Amino acid sequence: MLCHAILVAAGSGSRAGGSVPKQYVEIGGKSVLARAYDALRAHPAVGEIVVAIGKGQEELAARALGADRPARIVEGGATRRESVAAGMAALPDGDVVLVHDAARPFLPASVFDRLLSALAQADGAVPVLPVADTLVTAGDALGEVVDRDGLRRVQTPQGFRLAVLRAAHEGWTGPEPTDDAQMARAAGFNVFTIAGDPRLDKITAPADFALAEGRLNRITRTGLGYDVHAFAEGDHVWMGGVKVPHSHSLAGHSDADVALHALTDALLGAIGDGDIGAHFPPSDPQWKGASSDRFLIHARDLVRRSGGRIDHVDVTIICEAPKVRPHADAMRSRIGELLELPLNRVSIKATTTEGLGFTGRREGIAAQAIATVSSWEE
Ligand code: CTP
Ligand code: MG
Repeated sequence: MLCHAILVAAGSGSRAGGSVPKQYVEIGGKSVLARAYDALRAHPAVGEIVVAIGKGQEELAARALGADRPARIVEGGATRRESVAAGMAALPDGDVVLVHDAARPFLPASVFDRLLSALAQADGAVPVLPVADTLVTAGDALGEVVDRDGLRRVQTPQGFRLAVLRAAHEGWTGPEPTDDAQMARAAGFNVFTIAGDPRLDKITAPADFALAEGRLNRITRTGLGYDVHAFAEGDHVWMGGVKVPHSHSLAGHSDADVALHALTDALLGAIGDGDIGAHFPPSDPQWKGASSDRFLIHARDLVRRSGGRIDHVDVTIICEAPKVRPHADAMRSRIGELLELPLNRVSIKATTTEGLGFTGRREGIAAQAIATVSSWEE
C-alpha cells in the first residue's frame, strides 16, 4: 500500500496565542511541526510528506523543520479544508493518504498500524477516544445532559484512500468542516474508527504546551573518546585547538590534535553515530593536514541534528611534555568557541604517567574525553 501524508500547518494558532503560530513553537528543543513530521517519517509505510504552511511562513517553516527534513512545502489556505486541498494537489500518486494536524506533536506508531489495517477494508479510518467528562448543553445556564456513551472525540491522522479524499473534498457543500472524515462520510464513504491515543491530543490552548512538554523525558547520554598520536620531527603540536611550541610534532593524517580527536569521538559516542574514522576516513586525501576544528564542528552539528544538546565536555591530555597547564585556558576557550559552550561547561585536564608506558617514554601523546549530551524524548 503506497501511503503519503499531508501535514497541515497553515493555521494561525489564534487560541494558543504567542508571537508565532503554535506549530513553530519548540517543546523540548524541537518544534511542534518537526515532532509531528518526525513521527510521520518514522513509520516505514509513509512515502512523501507534503507540508501545507501559511502564506509568508516560509522562513518560520524552514527554521522549524531544519535541514534534514525533506518535505514538499505548499501554501495552505484560509481554512483547514483549503490547506488539505492544497496538500492534496501536490501529492504524488498513491493508494492511501494520511492527513495529520501539525499541531499534534506526538504520534504513537501503534495508531499508524491500526489506521493502516483498518484501511485494508474501509474507505477511511480515524482515531477516536471516548469522552470522559459529563457533557451538557449550556449557555450561561446549565442545559440538558448529553449522553456521552455514544460520543467520541476525533483525532488525526485520518487515513483515506486517495480517491476517497479527493471525492470527499470535491463533493463537500456543508459549512466549514473541522476535519476530513466528516466530508468523507457525507460523501457516502465508510469511515471506520480505531482507538486513538491521548498522546495525540492537539495543542490548542496556551496551557497545552506545558502538557505536551510534560510528556517528554530528559534523557542524558555520555560518550567516551580516546586517541593517541606518536611524536615525529617538528617544532609544535596541536592540542585542544591550540598551537603549542614543542621539540617535536605529532604524526598523523590530519593536524593530529589528540584532544580534539578524543572529544570528537566522545560526542559521536554520545549520539551513537560511529567514530571519527567512519566520518573522516584517513584514506580520504581531503583530510590530509586538515584542522581538527572541522571534525569537532561536524560532531557538534550531528549532536544538534539528533535533537541533542551538549551539556558538558571534559578532556584529559596525557603526556610528559609539552606542559599542558600553561595552555589549558586557551584550549578551554577554543573548545568552548567551537562547541558554542560557556567555559563552565568545558574542562581541560592534564596528567603524566610518571614516566611509565609510551607517554612516559615520550613516544607520543594520548587524550581521553567524555561528553554529556541531553535531549527531550517521549
Ligand atoms: N490549519 C491549516 N490551515 C488553516 C487552518 C488550520 O493548515 N487555514 C491546520 C493548523 O495549522 C493545525 C490544524 O489545521 O495544524 C488544526 O487546526 P487548529 O487546531 O484549529 O489550528 P489553528 O487554526 O492554527 O488554531 P486556531 O483555530 O486556534 O486559530
Ligand atoms: Mg483553527
